[in-house]
Amino acid sequence: MGKYTLIASCALAAAATFASADDVKKRTAAMDQIRMGAATLVPVIKGDKEFDAQVADLALRMTYAGALAFEGKFPEGSTSKGANPAIWENKADFDSKVLEFISNAEAAVAMQPNDLLSLQSAYQPLLKNCAACHKAYRIKN
Ligand code: HEC
Repeated sequence: MGKYTLIASCALAAAATFASADDVKKRTAAMDQIRMGAATLVPVIKGDKEFDAQVADLALRMTYAGALAFEGKFPEGSTSKGANPAIWENKADFDSKVLEFISNAEAAVAMQPNDLLSLQSAYQPLLKNCAACHKAYRIKN
């Protein structure tokens, strides 16, 4: 291997590492935003906190934005402590779960829930998405 080939491949490897560290940061930040949405909405749908249409709308929009930001942040090799390697073994299934979550979140915002019952039916599909995807693809540390 020539000297310049070596330097070039080291530079490429470093670039790949930085790119994936950035992806991990972006996707965990997106999930944190989704978690904040859940922290707001779960007590409401359980009946522990009063329904407020504006708060619900904001939390659903946050969730939708988080879901959009989460998408596409799992390039090959962007491993992390929280990501199950099964993601890259079943990438098509993982991607379809992400897209389903995005479309459920979009639908929930569009429903504009105006009472507890409509919020429950808007948000419950999303909670099922969290559970199903985490079971298969997240390592809880
Ligand atoms: C399509 C898959 C998928 C869905 C749907 C999903 N998650 Fe996640 N979630 C993940 C993966 C994968 C990680 C680990 C990411 C990593 O650490 O690189 C994660 C990590 C997290 C984390 C930890 C973030 C951190 O700071 O490390 C929280 C909190 C979280 N998810 C909450 C939720 C909630 C709440 C929902 C539903 C409203 C949800 N997730 C829906 C796949 C998903």
